[in-house]
Amino acid sequence: MFQPAEAAIAVEVLDEALAGDDDYRFVGAYEGGADTLVGFACWGPTPATVGTWDLYWIAVDPAWQGKGVGSDLLHEVERRLAADCARLLVVETSSRAEYAPTRGFYERRGFRRAAVLPEYYAPGDDLVIYLKDLTHGVLATTAS
Ligand SMILES: CC(C)(COP(=O)(O)OP(=O)(O)OC[C@H]1O[C@@H](n2cnc3c(N)ncnc32)[C@H](O)[C@@H]1OP(=O)(O)O)[C@@H](O)C(=O)NCCC(=O)NCCS
Repeated sequence: MFQPAEAAIAVEVLDEALAGDDDYRFVGAYEGGADTLVGFACWGPTPATVGTWDLYWIAVDPAWQGKGVGSDLLHEVERRLAADCARLLVVETSSRAEYAPTRGFYERRGFRRAAVLPEYYAPGDDLVIYLKDLTHGVLATTAS
């Protein structure tokens, strides 16, 4: 589903993360604990916000989709975000029909559709922004 330019950006960002850039975090899912990557997630703190983070990518090898790998990756991202006292998780996706299963994935995992920017990506292709409250209703405290 990803365009070549999007894949190139993912590799570039992974290189930056491996070089020590803390703005991008990655976690991978591996087949049977072996060295074959079957999925990954990439997230990072949203600049100039208090406790807001972006989930930049979550992707699972098509042969492995629908088997719980994406859910496991999201759980792991959220577990690490809890350790970072994250407040809000933002994810952007497309309104295109082929992304309907992806939107359902987010909606059934606590994300709410917060905004739609019409025609953002292309004519007929809106940007859909989802938010997930990571505080479970507990008020966050901030240093003053
Ligand atoms: C969205 C995605 C990460 C979910 O990962 P997954 O391993 O298929 O997810 P799981 O097996 O844990 O959960 C399956 C759920 O996702 C939905 N789903 C989304 N895409 C699916 C697919 N291609 N095949 C099967 N189920 C899919 C199912 O409806 C199911 O929903 P439910 O459990 O709430 O009923 C994965 O399907 C994917 O990589 N999609 C293409 C890339 C993408 O859209 N990434 C997000 C934008 S960056």
